Amino acid sequence: MNLKLLEDLNCSSYIIEHSQAVLKKAQTISDHFNVDIELVEDGALFHDVGRLKTQGIYHGIEGAKILEEHYFPQKVARIAEVHIGAGIPEEEAILLGLPPRDYMPLTLEEKIVAHADNLIHGTREVNLDFVIEKWRKNMGYNHPSIDRLINLDEELRSEIP
Ligand SMILES: [Fe+2]
Repeated sequence: MNLKLLEDLNCSSYIIEHSQAVLKKAQTISDHFNVDIELVEDGALFHDVGRLKTQGIYHGIEGAKILEEHYFPQKVARIAEVHIGAGIPEEEAILLGLPPRDYMPLTLEEKIVAHADNLIHGTREVNLDFVIEKWRKNMGYNHPSIDRLINLDEELRSEIP
């Protein structure tokens, strides 16, 4: 894998360990789908490189920029850009002060990495209820991102026998 590259980018050991856990979870989810597994793996491993620049919601956009500067395929950069939460629609992005566009994960590969990241807390795998609780605490009980999270979870779970 491209672990060395993650180190070369000067990612902290925390980001590297978190990203490895997300990679594993993304691989497990991918078992149930017909996906470009290399894309999922690169996306999972590099989804958080934007944390080199900022810890806030901008880290998706910053990550995409860093990956583009390092000549990663556009599809990998896009996974980093849309991995925040269960995606951010344009109208919310505007309210958050992000450059006005849609940040929703659309492809299966984008959805799998975003959701694998949701289900990994640090390096620990957590269940959906844990994530819902955490988001309710952080963002408010009825924040629209929670419905998006539940929908994404259902969508990716529907294939699992
Ligand atoms: Fe992230």
